[in-house]
Amino acid sequence: MIAAKEAEFIRSAFGRTDFLRDGRPQVLFVGRSNVGKSSLLNRLLGRKTLARVSSTPGRTRAVNYFLVDGRFYFVDLPGYGYAKAGRDERREWARLMDEFLAVALPEARVILLVDGKVGATPLDVEAFRYMADRGAEVTLVATKIDQVSSGRRARALAGIRTTLELSSETHVIPVSAESGEGVKQLWSEVLLHLEASTR
Ligand code: GTP
Ligand code: MG
Repeated sequence: MIAAKEAEFIRSAFGRTDFLRDGRPQVLFVGRSNVGKSSLLNRLLGRKTLARVSSTPGRTRAVNYFLVDGRFYFVDLPGYGYAKAGRDERREWARLMDEFLAVALPEARVILLVDGKVGATPLDVEAFRYMADRGAEVTLVATKIDQVSSGRRARALAGIRTTLELSSETHVIPVSAESGEGVKQLWSEVLLHLEASTR
């Protein structure tokens, strides 16, 4: 299966009382603001406008749940590290994420998105450690790979590996929501883990 048959938006959550816990597995899209989380989610589902995308960072403000084939959730999250966000906004983001992750992480599959051109930033390192420390299973992807020339790719991917101190068995999947590159591989990876978790 490459594209899902059905996907529907379920709800936006802004706090503890709104979070969904119905036993279905959840796949979380985590990464810096503007890294391409909503775009990749749309691309995986073959739907251009399911999750809102914007060239202005800070587009996604809530925890957004999408039910896929009635079987599992894709969860689109607000991005971290939005430089122009005010202190209150950043505090609000941290509160929402802490509350959400405390509930979701133990059972969730995380897709951590790192910008293929920018590489892993200190905030990405922090996010990766945060997830790993809480025992989350993390799949790493390098986004917007269409913007990285083929000559620079190997170095870009190696840079991400080094910065995140990845072990040799962890791979980084290069993806593009624009061209669709890597989407098939990411689907296989996601489905593999979902099957393992629902066995
Ligand atoms: P927040 O919701 O603010 O955290 O951002 P996000 O991570 O959801 O990013 P979003 O999907 O909204 O995309 C941000 C910008 O990057 C948009 O202008 C997208 O069109 C662009 N973009 C996303 N994915 C790709 C990609 O694979 N290639 C290229 N070239 N641009 C992309
Ligand atoms: Mg978004």
